Amino acid sequence: MRLLRETGHDVRVVPTESALKFVGAATWEALSGHPVTHEVWDDVPSVAHVERGRWADLVIVAPATADLLARAVAGMADDLLTTSLLTATCPVLFAPAMHTEMWLHPATQANVSTLRSRGMHVLPPAVGRLTGADSGPGRLPEPAQIMAAALPLLAPQDLAGRRVLVSAGGTREPLDPVRYLGNRSSGRQGVAVAQRARDRGAQVTLVAAHLDIDPPGGVDVIEVDTAASLRQAMVERLTEADVIVMAAAVADFRPAEVAEHKIKKTDSGRAEAISLALERTADVLVELVEARSAGQVIIGFAAETGSAAASALEIGREKLTRKGCDLLVVNDVSGDRVFGRDTNEAVILDRSGPDVDVPRASKAAVADTLWDTVAQRYLTHPIK
Ligand code: CTP
Repeated sequence: MRLLRETGHDVRVVPTESALKFVGAATWEALSGHPVTHEVWDDVPSVAHVERGRWADLVIVAPATADLLARAVAGMADDLLTTSLLTATCPVLFAPAMHTEMWLHPATQANVSTLRSRGMHVLPPAVGRLTGADSGPGRLPEPAQIMAAALPLLAPQDLAGRRVLVSAGGTREPLDPVRYLGNRSSGRQGVAVAQRARDRGAQVTLVAAHLDIDPPGGVDVIEVDTAASLRQAMVERLTEADVIVMAAAVADFRPAEVAEHKIKKTDSGRAEAISLALERTADVLVELVEARSAGQVIIGFAAETGSAAASALEIGREKLTRKGCDLLVVNDVSGDRVFGRDTNEAVILDRSGPDVDVPRASKAAVADTLWDTVAQRYLTHPIK
């Protein structure tokens, strides 16, 4: 419920009478902001038993008990949940939870097959500790797994068949065996870009440099460390991608020498200050643009603070031209407004179209605006 609300969805809860023995209606009402009932005889003037199913864009049954699966297969309509299931024309996702014997029983397995043959989605239950002392298949899948299955059912499938390569996170350049030069990128925005591409049907590879968060399920993850290893991972996969997104914060300089042993403060005698010699790293984005083939879409990110001489946006425009990419997502990062946060705001600069303003929203919503722009302006040709 929380994950759905946090991603901007309006959620209504339809419990069974038994479900209310575990979590009461007041809790669901407070969390959803809507009245909650299991009765078909409540709120009769709004014809709630028909209205709920018609209203929804997606129905998630979690936990789906063996009894509920059986009732759904039989088309029962003796409470608000089953009547809602019969009137829903949207996708339906069941997340089963029951004891192992009940899950493995031929009756339940036949019910699952029937639901799937009707186009409904049934997650396999997780394996682990159950309500009693027993453990095995039958645990309710974790909320993140239910979300990973639910979000694609809500998203437009406008990236289906497209191959997307995303870099995210921040590189680290070693100084000695225990120290590195790094940056404050958490990887959250790049991960959201990868995750929403996955939800919209793309086949996604994520080149991940030191993410603060877990990478999303359902995407290929290549872990990298330095600017050089990120460059290699991207260049190797360039030809396999239709869209490339450079969301990673890549070091522009690295220590010219990496000390073999830990640098001691007495190494430079009694010096009060030492200097580090740094050398330039390759500009990966420029290299990808130079090596690209026809039809490939390349997107850069720029975190800018602006300066006395130029605004963040002016710097972004100059950078779009200099880097030669198709789109550049410009964030104003002055005043600690972006790093490690769950929200972002940006302007998407387009080399061949008008700017797109992205007002402050979740990083997933920012990613969606980016994919809307890419799909509408750049992916109009059919899939090869
Ligand atoms: N980038 C890259 N390789 C680098 C540095 C940056 O591919 N060595 C990419 C980033 O992933 C991002 C874009 O270039 O998509 C812009 O990054 P930014 O650090 O803003 O650009 P710089 O070239 O470093 O510009 P400046 O130092 O002038 O701000």
